[in-house]
Amino acid sequence: MQNERTWQFWDDYYTSQEKDAQEWIVEPTIDLLEKLSEHLPRHNRTIHILEIGCGISTSARDFYSYLLKKNIDANVIATDISPVCIALNQQRDDLTPTEHRFEYRTLNVAEQHPDLNESFDIILDKGCLDTFAFRSKQRGQNQPYALLIRTVLDNIHSWLQPDGVYWVLTPRRKFRSVRDFRGFETVHRVELTTIPRGELVSTQQHTYLHVCQKNQQYLPNTDDHAFCKGHEETIDDDSSCPKCHKTFYEFRKGEPMDGQGKSVWWRRWRGHCRHCKRK
Ligand SMILES: C[S@@+](CC[C@H](N)C(=O)[O-])C[C@H]1O[C@@H](n2cnc3c(N)ncnc32)[C@H](O)[C@@H]1O
Ligand SMILES: [Zn+2]
Repeated sequence: MQNERTWQFWDDYYTSQEKDAQEWIVEPTIDLLEKLSEHLPRHNRTIHILEIGCGISTSARDFYSYLLKKNIDANVIATDISPVCIALNQQRDDLTPTEHRFEYRTLNVAEQHPDLNESFDIILDKGCLDTFAFRSKQRGQNQPYALLIRTVLDNIHSWLQPDGVYWVLTPRRKFRSVRDFRGFETVHRVELTTIPRGELVSTQQHTYLHVCQKNQQYLPNTDDHAFCKGHEETIDDDSSCPKCHKTFYEFRKGEPMDGQGKSVWWRRWRGHCRHCKRK
């Protein structure tokens, strides 16, 4: 699906790299890892995590070490389309044989992999889908729902477990294709204000984490209406009811959201916005 030139582009990019680690968008500081861990599933099983488009970032490895320290049982696979970058990571991290619960692999997110279906609790994406969105814009299409993006989102949906989540770290406050993708039941946006930005950023001021909960009703690769325009805005604490102007935070009376509680709050909030009678 994705042409060989793209693959070659990234291989050349990593071949010419002099550093052995580099971060786009945001640095995997302890603050970021803590922020991410607030969105971990609450079950007691091993947490299976896939990173897509890992580049030569250390995010997945650092998150794995962080979880180990917290005694959280996790299995992490960090992937990228570029074999050069995967080889660089493998050399850099020199993983001992006991570290078989963390590995680097090549994976093209634009291709289907039935062997990965329903495998992951979390799919982490720091700048991968961004590159597809950027390319679609560069080609003058500027289509948030470009076919390639839909293919990638369908694959992500297939690889998530029924209650899995897709975490997108991006400078985009609004990520329309993510927000409107029917394969996600809810998309919750968290602004990451205090976390240092990566070295490879444009003039972006902020970084956002979009937490996307899988919609189990959606059938990837068959649904003709993968995107629904006019889907509710991404919900965050500042989202406000169009009628009574109460914010989502006020609606919850400041109550924190954790674990399973999140989807309940989001459902209640959508219900409120739909039925609110106040002017
Ligand atoms: C903007 S970089 C982000 C790298 C890294 N996640 C970081 O935060 O530093 C995008 C990455 O996506 C990878 N990529 C591009 N197309 C891909 C595809 N079809 N499948 C998997 N990875 C891809 C590139 O090789 C590149 O490493
Ligand atoms: Zn209201």
